[in-house]
Amino acid sequence: MPTNAGTSLSSYKHIVAIGTTVKSESLESAAYEIPRKRKMRSDSAAVSGNSVSTPKKLKSHLPSSVPNPGMSEKEVVEDSNEILRYPVNLAVSDCLGTKSKWSPRDEEQMRAVKEALHVSKAPSTILCREDEQIRIFEFVKGCIDQQKAGSLYICGCPGTGKSLSMEKVVQQVGDWSTQAGLPPVDTLSVNCTSLSKTTDIFSKILGEIKPGKNANTNSSPLQHLQNLFSQKQESSSSRMMLIIADEMDYLITKDRGVLYDLFMLTTLPFSRCILIGVANAIDLADRFLPKLKSLNCKPMVITFRAYSKDQILRILQERLRVLSYVAFQPKALELCARKVAAASGDMRKALCVCRSALEILEIETRGSTGPESQGPTPDDSVVRMDHMAAALSKTFKSPVVETIQSLPQHQQIIICAAAKAFRGSKKDATVGELNKLYLEICKSWMISPAGITEFTNMCTVLNDQVCCFRGY
Ligand SMILES: Nc1ncnc2c1ncn2[C@@H]1O[C@H](COP(=O)(O)OP(=O)(O)OP(=O)(O)O)[C@@H](O)[C@H]1O
Ligand SMILES: [Mg+2]
Repeated sequence: MPTNAGTSLSSYKHIVAIGTTVKSESLESAAYEIPRKRKMRSDSAAVSGNSVSTPKKLKSHLPSSVPNPGMSEKEVVEDSNEILRYPVNLAVSDCLGTKSKWSPRDEEQMRAVKEALHVSKAPSTILCREDEQIRIFEFVKGCIDQQKAGSLYICGCPGTGKSLSMEKVVQQVGDWSTQAGLPPVDTLSVNCTSLSKTTDIFSKILGEIKPGKNANTNSSPLQHLQNLFSQKQESSSSRMMLIIADEMDYLITKDRGVLYDLFMLTTLPFSRCILIGVANAIDLADRFLPKLKSLNCKPMVITFRAYSKDQILRILQERLRVLSYVAFQPKALELCARKVAAASGDMRKALCVCRSALEILEIETRGSTGPESQGPTPDDSVVRMDHMAAALSKTFKSPVVETIQSLPQHQQIIICAAAKAFRGSKKDATVGELNKLYLEICKSWMISPAGITEFTNMCTVLNDQVCCFRGY
């Protein structure tokens, strides 16, 4: 894979993921699987329908100050150290008389740890994204204060906390406007992956501003919005509107028309849109900003950088801090943070790896209770380095990815072209269309392309390979 794949094709997150090589001792040639994403975070219905339920509040996971009667002196000391780490919660757990000793056999404890590490569990504080949140909040606040439309473009690799931070900012804006005695800000959060066609974004916005306005009319929702924002409005309908277009990469059409029209709405004389576009495509800014600038619309850009090892570790520790027991060896967490940071800095991935390591321990524990077990697994056994290493190789290893990585460079480019061709609902493409995309990619990577005969041959070879992929 060309080394600049990450930059040139950053909007095609799956392909970038495939091309990312993990620089690690134990995972030399590993690459990571296409991450499974929690697509509908901003969709409350989807979130509430998640398989992970809200933690049961009755049973506290906080440490007890009363040591277990059966504990050795050493365990008591260790337990006391734990207690010192959570001094505030001590009294609560003490009153409830809950147990604080970790046991992988305890289903309730296991469930609580998994839940703390689940991607759908929004943390109470979003660590390592404080600056970004302040900048977004200040931008929105500035627009509301001045009653002025504006646009912001947030970009960053998958799992870097963009959607999470946006949710928090929306909350903060709501709290701030209430406290300031301002009228509530109309907020529309759209996950662009949920739109059946890109122009539906305009009907969504119109529906939010003027419900029912779209029906029985000759002009399109975009034209409606353009008219609306070109004329002075009655004061009652001139509230500012915060529009969050998450996964905005999905709005990229060939001519990027929808994207331009969307951002241009913020430049109309009576516009009251505060538009925030969130996307993975770091280079999208370079590709579409110059044109927007020439149209007198240059959104502010905030980039979310991949999490570093220390940040991933801090976030993991923070998420686990709510539990009274220690389920992970510190070194195991560190290993996870190091490997994930080296691969992608994707927090979603780090959480998945930790959960997977926990499951490995769970299986090991269960296995040890069987009649053929080689002696019992200690009840207090925690997730160790070996569990984590196994989870890492399980997560980062994919036969399909390995096969793709072993392909010659031009065949990899064809796969990138195919990914581009089949984005959205498109089911088929001609060799000519594929060749055109292939030539575009070669041009952007400054690689001389293969001729059409060679290209067709490579497609045939790949076609055979795809049959092999399906076998996995
Ligand atoms: N700072 C953080 N603290 C705690 N958890 C985090 C943090 N950042 C990310 N996460 C976890 O990782 C998950 C993925 O984050 P998020 O959905 O915000 O990523 P994203 O940048 O929007 O990714 P994508 O580009 O794929 O949409 C979150 O649901 C959350 O569980
Ligand atoms: Mg997101």
